[in-house]
This record gives sequence, structure tokens and C-alpha cells, in this order.
Amino acid sequence: MIKSLRNQLVVALGLLVSVIGVVQGVSSYQLSRTGTSALLDLRLEQVAARMRDGYAEGIPENPARGSQDDRDVVVVVWKPDGQYPFRTTDPSLHFPRDAKPGFSGVDVNDEHWRIFTRQEPTMTIQVAQRSSVRRQLTTEAATLTLWPIAVLLPLVWIAVVLVVRRSLRQLTQLGAEVQAIDMGNLQPLPTVGVPTEIAPFIHSINMMIGRLATSIEKERKFIADAAHELRTPLTALQLQADNLAPHIVRGNQERFQELRRGIARSGSLIAQLLRLARADAPVNGAPLSRVDLSEIVTGAVADVLPLAIARGLDIGAEEMVSAHVRAIETDIGMAVKNLVSNAVRYTPDGGTIDLRMRRDGDMVRVEVIDTGPGIDEALLPRVFDRFFRANPDVEGSGLGLSIVKAIAARYGGDVTLRNRDDGRSGIVASIGFPVEEVNESAAAPASA
Ligand SMILES: Nc1ncnc2c1ncn2[C@@H]1O[C@H](COP(=O)(O)OP(=O)(O)OP(=O)(O)O)[C@@H](O)[C@H]1O
Ligand SMILES: [Mg+2]
Repeated sequence: MIKSLRNQLVVALGLLVSVIGVVQGVSSYQLSRTGTSALLDLRLEQVAARMRDGYAEGIPENPARGSQDDRDVVVVVWKPDGQYPFRTTDPSLHFPRDAKPGFSGVDVNDEHWRIFTRQEPTMTIQVAQRSSVRRQLTTEAATLTLWPIAVLLPLVWIAVVLVVRRSLRQLTQLGAEVQAIDMGNLQPLPTVGVPTEIAPFIHSINMMIGRLATSIEKERKFIADAAHELRTPLTALQLQADNLAPHIVRGNQERFQELRRGIARSGSLIAQLLRLARADAPVNGAPLSRVDLSEIVTGAVADVLPLAIARGLDIGAEEMVSAHVRAIETDIGMAVKNLVSNAVRYTPDGGTIDLRMRRDGDMVRVEVIDTGPGIDEALLPRVFDRFFRANPDVEGSGLGLSIVKAIAARYGGDVTLRNRDDGRSGIVASIGFPVEEVNESAAAPASA
């Protein structure tokens, strides 16, 4: 069973054309044989008619034996009273004088002959030709009729492949377009210039994209609303805990602190959920500005510096480049900060964290490289999943990287996480954004 529609079409059309070709070839071969055979018979008849018209006397009385070409017809003329032929073009061949009038087959000298016998009152004329020669001539003529089909058939196969491939290219293109649909920015597929057969298909996909976008947006809104609603009671809870703190007896202190840590964890989970819901929202309409990425990087380092120093972490930004990104500044800040905070959180005390910037075509990348434990290769593909935590011993909500991914997608960028490949353990987290090129006229002072 052929799965590809293209191959199914090619094979079906190709086989159809081949069957037609073969049937056509066989019939033209047969027709040609029959036709040639009829022509050869006509020739025997015509030669016999010439003999009747007095040409028989023109045949030499004693032709040399075997002087005749094998392919020639043999002529024998009998007179009514003669015991031997009156004339023959080959005396070595003895045809039966009493062969029935018209066409018949006889065996002479171990060969089969086709013979035409014409009875006239004054003479009997026999014209014969070897059956093997006739077969050879008819086969030669018939084989010639097969040439056009033999040449055309492969050409038709090639044409079928080309035509089918061309017709289905639109389908392949559509497949690529559907595959390239950006879940972070769902847009309907273009419908202009689409063949009528594919249009309903695209229409259905576009309706599905619409429904998907609505349900994603609904989900995002629900998360945002839920996180927002949860914030108020949690803040109240926090306040009450703060008020209660001085009144907790010594023996209950530890359990009370655990309660406060729980409240704090819930608070940061809700804060992360809100950030994710915001990062997932479509960017349309929001005021974007020119964000200096190197400033963001140095800011992110400065933010974690006190904590890093306290933990003996050597953190620094090297290899900086000047590049700007068109975005909401807090988004870019949050994305870089999340990567840096992961590096700080998961790198053991005394480790090293390097931040680097580099241009990569029309993208600018920030890389955060740490000397932490890295991540099991099997778990790496899941680190961007919501709530996924590769290392449950360390506290975290598992949303940080989902937020980073949503922000990268929001601005047409990308983010990757991989283990270091320089022999040391650790992670290389890399986030890239399209560079906003400096436009000469826009960059010039307004008064200039
Ligand atoms: N630099 C890193 N080194 C080792 N593991 C990492 C690193 N960055 C991320 N991870 C792993 O990936 C998981 C997901 O990271 P993510 O930032 O999404 O969540 P989190 O850090 O657990 O929580 P959150 O950032 O929401 O507070 C982490 O739990 C951690 O196991
Ligand atoms: Mg994190």
C-alpha cells in the first residue's frame, strides 16, 4: 500500500499509460504483420498475372541451379501436356503441379513454402515464396512499428511524474505552512491564489486556528484572572502572619516559620503565573521601545551581585556587543533575569557564571554559562514545559523558563538550553532576539 498521494497518482497514471501503450503496441504489431503478409500475397498474385501475359517465355530455359536469392519468389510454369515444367526459375525445387488453385502451403526440400497456383487453359502458373522469408519480412516491418511507443513510453512516465509533482507542490507547501504555524502568534493561512480543491481545506484549517487562538486566549485570561484574584487573599494571609509573629510561643516557632515559607512560596508561584500569563499575551498594540540589550545584561548581573558575592559565585559579563531590540523593556529584562537567576540558583557556592553577548546574523544572543550540575540529557527537552523541574530538591515553581520562552516567541526570538560541551559540567542558556538595526536617518538628531 503506497502511502504518498503523489506516488499513488504517479503509479496509477503511469500504469494506465503503460497498459494503453502495450495494447497499442501489440495491436499495431499484429496489424503490421497481417498487412505485410497481405502485400506479399498480392505480390505472388501479380507475378502470376504477369506470367499469363506472356512473360513466361522470358524466363531462361535452363537457369543455373541455386542462382536465385533465397528471398526471391520462385516461378514455375507448366504447359498442359508437359511432364516437366515449361519454365522454372529454380530447377532444383519440385513443386507439386496439382496444388490447389489459389494460395496454399507446401513442403519442398524440407522447407515450408507459400504458393499461389493459377490455372489457365493454356498453362498452370505457380509462384512461391519461402515461409521463413515471409516471417522474417513481416517481423521486421512489425518491429519497426514498436519504435515510437518504446521511445514515447518513458517520456510519458517522466511527464506524469513532473505533472503530478507540480500539481501537488501546493499541497506540500501547505503542509510546510501548517507546520510553521507559530503557536505564540496564530495567524490564518493565506487564501489568495490557492487552487479550488485546496481552498476548503485551508478554510477549515483557518477556522481551527481561529478556535485554537480563542481557546488559548481564554486559558491565558483565566490564568491571569485566577492569579490576580489569589493575590489579594494571599497578601491578607501574609499580613496576618506578620501580625501574629510576635505572639507565637517559642515551641511553635518552627512550625510557624514553615507556614510563612509556604505562604511565600505560594506568593512567588502566583507572581510567576501572572508573569507567564502576561508574557503569553499577544504583543499587538503594546508600545514598544528601543531596548539596549547590553544595559539589560549588566542590569541583570547587578541585580544578583549581592547574592552571588554572599555565595562566593564569580559572576561577570564579558564579550559585550552593542545591540538594540524593539520590545517592551521589562519583558527583555525579565527573560535575561530568569536565565541569570537559574544559573545563580542551580550553581553550587564558589562556582562561576559568565554572561556573553554576540551577533548571530540578524539576531543578537545573550548566553549565560554556569558551572552547575547541568541537566540530564533525557530531561533537557522538557525544561520549557510549564511546572517542569529537573531538580525537585531546589525550590522553584518550574515556570521561569516557560516565561522566557513566551517572551522570546513574542518578539520573534528563540531560547535554548544545553549542557556545556567543553568538558566542564554546567548549562549554556542562550536567548536570541532580532536586532533592531540602527537607521541612519532615524538615529540622526532631529535638528540636523
Ligand atoms: N542553569 C541551570 N542549571 C541546572 N538546572 C537548571 C538550570 N536552569 C534550569 N534548570 C532546571 O530546569 C528546571 C526549570 O527551570 P525554570 O526556570 O523553568 O523553573 P524553576 O527555576 O524551577 O522555577 P522558577 O524559575 O519558576 O522559580 C529547573 O527546575 C531546573 O531543574
Ligand atoms: Mg527558574
